[in-house]
Amino acid sequence: MSAMIEISGLDKSFGSLEVLRGIDLTVRRGEVVCVIGPSGSGKSTLLRCVNLLEQPTKGRIAVDGVEVTDPDTDLDAARRHIGMVFQGFNLFSHLTVLENLTVAQRKVLRRDRAEADRVARENLDRVGLAEKADSMPAQLSGGQQQRVAIARALSMNPNVMLFDEPTSALDPELVGDVLGVMRGLADEGMTMLVVTHEMQFAREVADRVLFMDGGVVVEQGPPAEVIGDPKEERTRTFLSRVLDPTHTGPKD
Ligand SMILES: Nc1ncnc2c1ncn2[C@@H]1O[C@H](COP(=O)(O)OP(=O)(O)OP(=O)(O)O)[C@@H](O)[C@H]1O
Ligand SMILES: [Mg+2]
Repeated sequence: MSAMIEISGLDKSFGSLEVLRGIDLTVRRGEVVCVIGPSGSGKSTLLRCVNLLEQPTKGRIAVDGVEVTDPDTDLDAARRHIGMVFQGFNLFSHLTVLENLTVAQRKVLRRDRAEADRVARENLDRVGLAEKADSMPAQLSGGQQQRVAIARALSMNPNVMLFDEPTSALDPELVGDVLGVMRGLADEGMTMLVVTHEMQFAREVADRVLFMDGGVVVEQGPPAEVIGDPKEERTRTFLSRVLDPTHTGPKD
């Protein structure tokens, strides 16, 4: 069986700024890959290239055997099964939680109301928010809203989930519930590509950790190696800053 995500020779520039430089990455089915690295290293851009929110300057990307960088590919169809969760939750504020989960199912997957509701409730239950179906997003905590955003992505039956710092906008006490949901997904065998600053999560849940800096993958391997015993000086420097609570500068 082919890999879930296959990236080869990926370059991305914004004008003269080279943000990604020759990224090669294969994510196997069921694998959880965490991407770490300083601010501006290209982590979000990498994720956004996978579902073509950014058009690569060069290189090839295939998701679930479909080459998304092929101009003849039906992008809407390819994106349909790529779940994406960002730092902000992007819920529709004028719709209930349940409606937030059913809109795209009905419009994009053409499910009828009963089926969309059933799938939505199933996924709300999965993230521990079954009782919030009729709430408005503003009535939920940030952590609950983020779990709704995850349930919404799951309701589209994704083959792979992309997470871009899903907990970094949350109050510390709300982070654990969201990470718990993500851990559950990983346990169920979901393929996940996760940009995160949560080193403990990466250590415990990732099959592989990628350290990026300056648009290249500097080092990758099992978390115990990349986080526990990094080989590269740049990785060490980054980790000492992230892991040292007395560091007062910007948390990059
Ligand atoms: N649409 C864009 N236009 C121009 N420059 C961009 C654009 N998007 C990103 N960049 C630049 O590309 C570089 C990488 O950005 P990216 O958001 O991928 O970094 P990151 O690793 O996710 O950082 P952070 O940890 O702060 O989220 C940065 O220098 C950023 O300013
Ligand atoms: Mg980013």
